[in-house]
Amino acid sequence: MNQVLFVKANCRSLDQSVNVKLYHAFLDTYRKANPSDRVIELDLYQEELPYYNDVMLNGMAKRRKGSELSLAEKEAVGRVMRILDPFVAADKIVFAFPMWNLTVPAALHTYIDYVSQPGIAYRYTPEGPVGMLGSKKAALLNARGGVYSSGPRRSRKWP
Ligand SMILES: Cc1cc2nc3c(=O)[nH]c(=O)nc-3n(C[C@H](O)[C@H](O)[C@H](O)COP(=O)(O)O)c2cc1C
Repeated sequence: MNQVLFVKANCRSLDQSVNVKLYHAFLDTYRKANPSDRVIELDLYQEELPYYNDVMLNGMAKRRKGSELSLAEKEAVGRVMRILDPFVAADKIVFAFPMWNLTVPAALHTYIDYVSQPGIAYRYTPEGPVGMLGSKKAALLNARGGVYSSGPRRSRKWP
């Protein structure tokens, strides 16, 4: 049995959004094909995570070193770990998100800030940073309005 985390970073309704339709089609198909897997859904627009901030940064750094945390840092670390634990525990992770302004929506960026933890997600080596969660599989379900090639952006041809 695999544990699969579905991360939805799209605030739009099913009838409005290509990407949300893709998310549900993938989720339904996955569940039918893998009935014994444990699926966890995380809707980042319902979650409304606060931006990653200095109390979280300092708290997580102290946690790494085993130093004593202030009350505010304990709460902040608890908030980060509640997001980080299912990410680390998942065998597979599916991200669904639209392209917004050539990148991901801010809610997904904040999620990435929470889970990109040194000593847990990656570590530094003399050769540079190395990932520590390499056995996971990830799928990206992304929709975008523009047409992109490996070269410069190509404009959509309007009728
Ligand atoms: C705020 C905003 C910014 C967007 N920025 C881009 C962009 O930079 N490039 C692009 O190709 N499409 C862009 N789009 C279009 C979406 O990627 C497109 O609608 C896609 O289908 C994802 O939206 P969906 O939730 O409707 O599926 C943008 C849409 C919105 C609402």
